[in-house]
Amino acid sequence: MHLAGLRICCSEMFPVGPGFANGSRMSDLSRSLAATADRITIALDALLPRPQGPEARLFSAMRYAALGGGKRLRPFLTLEAGRLFDADETALLRTACAIECVQTYSLVHDDLPCMDDDDLRRGQPTTHKAYDEATALLAGDALLTFAFELLADPQTHPDPKMRCLLVAGLAKAAGPTGMVAGQMIDMGPPSDDGAGDDLVTITRMNRLKTGALIAFAVEAGCLLGAASDDARHALARYAQDVGMAFQMVDDLLDIEASAEELGKGAGKDAAAGKVNFVTVLGADGARARVRMLADQAKAHLAVLGPRTGVLSALVDYIVDRRR
Ligand code: IPE
Ligand code: IPE
Ligand code: MG
Ligand code: MG
Ligand code: MG
Repeated sequence: MHLAGLRICCSEMFPVGPGFANGSRMSDLSRSLAATADRITIALDALLPRPQGPEARLFSAMRYAALGGGKRLRPFLTLEAGRLFDADETALLRTACAIECVQTYSLVHDDLPCMDDDDLRRGQPTTHKAYDEATALLAGDALLTFAFELLADPQTHPDPKMRCLLVAGLAKAAGPTGMVAGQMIDMGPPSDDGAGDDLVTITRMNRLKTGALIAFAVEAGCLLGAASDDARHALARYAQDVGMAFQMVDDLLDIEASAEELGKGAGKDAAAGKVNFVTVLGADGARARVRMLADQAKAHLAVLGPRTGVLSALVDYIVDRRR
């Protein structure tokens, strides 16, 4: 698929067949993930500013980062959670796009030389490699703030109270009590005496840097669908386990997968002296914990009835993914 000169192909990202725990269900899910990823890319293409004027380079870099791939898992979670409660599709889609803008910004900044110093992201050169550091920094800033502009727009939801809830929820998930705090802990120097390397600190780091945005993606679907408290709580617990498992699999893939498979650098965490569940528990220990979290996540869905099949299958995808 080609869109405004960009390569968008989701079929390679969501392969069907061997390598997954559950063949036939997984192929349905793969199709669904690919369709959602395309839908998000098309929506972002329409929403993001087009390069023009003296700041054209900024818009170009925002589009490069946001339209050039990505699994779009957080948008998928928002859409699927919201659909459980028959939420309005336009509201879900625009909210999902806002969340994906924050996700993309976080990756652009995470890849900068002052952070993880990566050259490859989503199968293409990182934004600071394709442009330059100042442009990547500004493109990240612009994607982050654009997300709130999207949520605050009445086109996202007619009720200002709902827009405020979405803005506040995303701010909390992304900011100093969420992702940014987790990124700070992640950047901390590994201590000689092992302080801060304990599982409590690593759990908290993962919950903040990765879990918070994943949790908000699910919560946003619940908000837009006016889900009952019981349903919201069950889905919040699901999201917490999914978020933790997701980051642990990311850490496992860093040692187990190739850069070609990942579309980003491999073997980088150990080289950078990062401390995570894999370095503390070993790969087998981390895998066992991922499986436990996956079972637990699926069990939380039970109270919601049979419509949660997609969210349940997504857990297996997250555990078995190679990207
Ligand atoms: C990467 O997230 C950053 C982490 C939180 C581990 P994803 O693996 O969801 O990256 P994209 O959005 O699909 O590129
Ligand atoms: C990043 O974690 C989490 C973010 C909030 C961006 P990583 O640094 O492990 O993510 P990757 O491996 O570069 O995608
Ligand atoms: Mg990082
Ligand atoms: Mg990184
Ligand atoms: Mg990683």
